[in-house]
Amino acid sequence: MSATAHGKVILLGEHAVVYGQPCLAGSLHPGASCDAEHGPGGVRLHVVPWDRSFTPDDGSEIGRAVGGLCAALGVSDAALTLTLSLPGGGGVGSSAAMGVACARALAELAGRSLDDHAVMELALGWERVFHGNPSGVDHTLAALGGVGVFVRGEGLRRLRLRGPVPLCLGDTGERSATRAMVEGVAVLRTRNPAMTDRTLDAIGVVVRNGALALEAGDAKGLGDFMNLNQNLLASLLVSTERIEDLCAAARDAGAYGAKLTGGGGGGCVIALAPGREDAVLAAWKTLGVDGRVVQVGR
Ligand code: PMV
Repeated sequence: MSATAHGKVILLGEHAVVYGQPCLAGSLHPGASCDAEHGPGGVRLHVVPWDRSFTPDDGSEIGRAVGGLCAALGVSDAALTLTLSLPGGGGVGSSAAMGVACARALAELAGRSLDDHAVMELALGWERVFHGNPSGVDHTLAALGGVGVFVRGEGLRRLRLRGPVPLCLGDTGERSATRAMVEGVAVLRTRNPAMTDRTLDAIGVVVRNGALALEAGDAKGLGDFMNLNQNLLASLLVSTERIEDLCAAARDAGAYGAKLTGGGGGGCVIALAPGREDAVLAAWKTLGVDGRVVQVGR
């Protein structure tokens, strides 16, 4: 039994999406793939790139998450092998991709045929183990793929685009738990509700306009909204010096726009630089980052 799932990048709108604002996001492929077979007893998940195995009662979050999936599907013995094609914890939806791939593989092993909606329900349970208040954008893109505007509780409205969106993706190498970053914004909102809510509203406006720019094929416009979004994210205290350095280097190399993607506090940076991708990757290289070009929504 073998199953796959997508990763994701948020082009615009992370954090504000937790509070009901729209976000513009697209899938990355490949994300994760999972093979499942009946095991010699009990449940074990092996994550190939980390060369680590997890079991439901080993005290780890991944162990607990896979245990939850097995309980929901009535699976008591399974040997799962997971391959991840994304940087873990880098803001590109690796955890949701793992959850969706595992849910699909386990459902197949259990002889259950699940539609995408049922897979997303299972993957939401997986996501809740890792961060307390997920908006749902990660596991929705992981299951469905494509590019669209996601609203919490409403789902994904797909955009009709002429083709995938090429983006430069660079990993700062810094790591922060999404849970901690989301909690940080919640604390800011408690301390300074008016300022924080105005910022979240402004991000919502940026997302709506950015989606129009993307649909119209206006790369320069979309890039401007990415830069605005990055400033608003910095004012929510989720950026870092390293993120700002990579964004500035990308813009100096000709990118229309650059910003963090995902929870921030490190993780990955995206840059929209049609025809200037090589210059952006070269600029990042001088900062010690091996970036790559990804096709979002393919
Ligand atoms: O860091 P990631 O890939 O899990 O993305 C988090 C995106 C947030 O908007 C910060 C949180 C969420 O649940 O939408």
